[in-house]
Amino acid sequence: MKKLIFLFISLFAFSLAFSQDKATNTERMKWWREARFGMFIHWDMSSVAGTEISWSRLGAKPLDIFGDPAGTGGDSIYDNLYKKFNPTQFNAGKWVEIAKDAGMKYLVFTAKHHGGFCMWDTKYTDYSIMNTPYGKDVIRELSAECHKAGIRFGIYYSPRDWHHPDYGMGDNTKYEAYMTGQLTELLTNYGQVDVVWFDSFGKGESVKYWHADKVLDLVRKLQPQAIINNRCNYFGENVPSLKADFDTPEQTIGSYQPTRNWESCMCVVEAPKGGWSYRRDGKVKPFAECIRNLVGCSTGDGNLLLDVGPDPTGIIPSDQAGRLAQIGEWIRKYGFTIYGTQGGPFRNGKWGGGTFKGNKVYVHLYESAPDTVSLPALKENLVNAKNLSHSNVKASMSNGKIKIISTPADRHSPDTILELTFDKPVTRVEN
Ligand code: GLC
Repeated sequence: MKKLIFLFISLFAFSLAFSQDKATNTERMKWWREARFGMFIHWDMSSVAGTEISWSRLGAKPLDIFGDPAGTGGDSIYDNLYKKFNPTQFNAGKWVEIAKDAGMKYLVFTAKHHGGFCMWDTKYTDYSIMNTPYGKDVIRELSAECHKAGIRFGIYYSPRDWHHPDYGMGDNTKYEAYMTGQLTELLTNYGQVDVVWFDSFGKGESVKYWHADKVLDLVRKLQPQAIINNRCNYFGENVPSLKADFDTPEQTIGSYQPTRNWESCMCVVEAPKGGWSYRRDGKVKPFAECIRNLVGCSTGDGNLLLDVGPDPTGIIPSDQAGRLAQIGEWIRKYGFTIYGTQGGPFRNGKWGGGTFKGNKVYVHLYESAPDTVSLPALKENLVNAKNLSHSNVKASMSNGKIKIISTPADRHSPDTILELTFDKPVTRVEN
């Protein structure tokens, strides 16, 4: 129940906490809107225990949304896991290759999660990868490989820090200096950073001292092209003056929303055993579900950031990598119906949805769709309907309205795709 409430509040907060200014962010969002699909990576020394990153840490969670449920102090086991963290198999090039083969165009990596452990060579704390038996800067390697491979590189940074003694203390000045120092390192020492993905400051008395606006200004100054998500703020507050670039629904497909940029972040490993980070007994989601998540986002005019959790040796486990490879095979065939398209031109639904580009509309019909799907009238005329999935699903247009007609036997898993060609460039319908 607690989890449900949390999810509800966070979804609400994350979709409202920041305003967006589509007019000013259109230019820097261009590549992202075309990319549609990225890789999220949650990885740090928590993989040694195989428990959820940060959340499995006992002890204090200052400014947590539920207050500080776990009491005081740290967690002598969790906080010492880093001494055993030696990912000798880590190969940034391999991760980037897995992402690229899956059709992902960008990657967002946990530089620091709520647990406070830092995955780069930071001069601001000893609690970092440099003091593990491994001792190498993971961000250095990952950013370099992304740049080499033409994959956009993104940094996840948690303003919440349950390990740092100054976090949320007093007027927060000391912690803010720590955080801006670290962000300056991350945004100056690793070349171009394309995405900065914050994960909320927390909640409570001290947040009144939190200067999210200054943090955003710092990012804009150091990496003007970087796009920023809507979680630089704290939970549940609407700060209209802060301009984020995109919203972040979590573990759910965002709803059809062409007026705001949004990206759903979802795990490739199934709940409840799975999570953002590595679990020994995690089970990957079925292939069809993964595709429908991607299609659901694209037809709703959003992106999908699909999360993997590498193991403590540094490898993306073979079941996760295998699923991504399958997604990649699908994308190589049908990616042109996803990349560079917009979601629409009509509202998506349980039946499936559409994407469009120029005078083409790509209808993605799910197996569970009804035999007849009636779509709202378009202003353009249908000149041709081609079934890309080699089945008998048909599309016809009369009085401006499109009907998609099929029998259950015609509908394939994960979806059946139709390419509809119109007599002129398609425009979005208000529905
Ligand atoms: C939540 C969780 C965090 C995870 C993030 C990803 O805010 O606290 O563990 O990294 O969502 O969206």
